[in-house]
Amino acid sequence: MAGKFKEKKDYLKQLLEHLTKPRNVGRMTDPDGAAIVKGQCGDTMEMYVAIKDGKISEILFYTDGCGVTAVCGSITTELAKGRNIKDALRISPADVIDELHDFLGANVHCAILTVITLHKALADYLLKREL
Ligand code: FES
Repeated sequence: MAGKFKEKKDYLKQLLEHLTKPRNVGRMTDPDGAAIVKGQCGDTMEMYVAIKDGKISEILFYTDGCGVTAVCGSITTELAKGRNIKDALRISPADVIDELHDFLGANVHCAILTVITLHKALADYLLKREL
């Protein structure tokens, strides 16, 4: 029981940090890949990636959405940073939802919007390279 309480406390602490100090917020000048996606709720998510030696060396997000969207952006960028492109494309909304345990509630679409934006930013990079 004490273990479960500590686990929940650690999770809430981590969640609060993403909420009050979201990681990787901003816009990038001259990114290797970028995407802007508007969700059905009307919120917009932007994502920018810099790629070095096949890995995501830098990643930033910017949103006009709610706190939940910002938390999802923070977690998604943390999950993606340092990964190679193939691994980053394997990140799914379920990974973000798992990180958030039951916090998302009805806001699962925030995680979906964030991950779609990541995948589009990576596709932008890959497609530019192939031209
Ligand atoms: Fe619109 Fe989160 S409420 S994306």
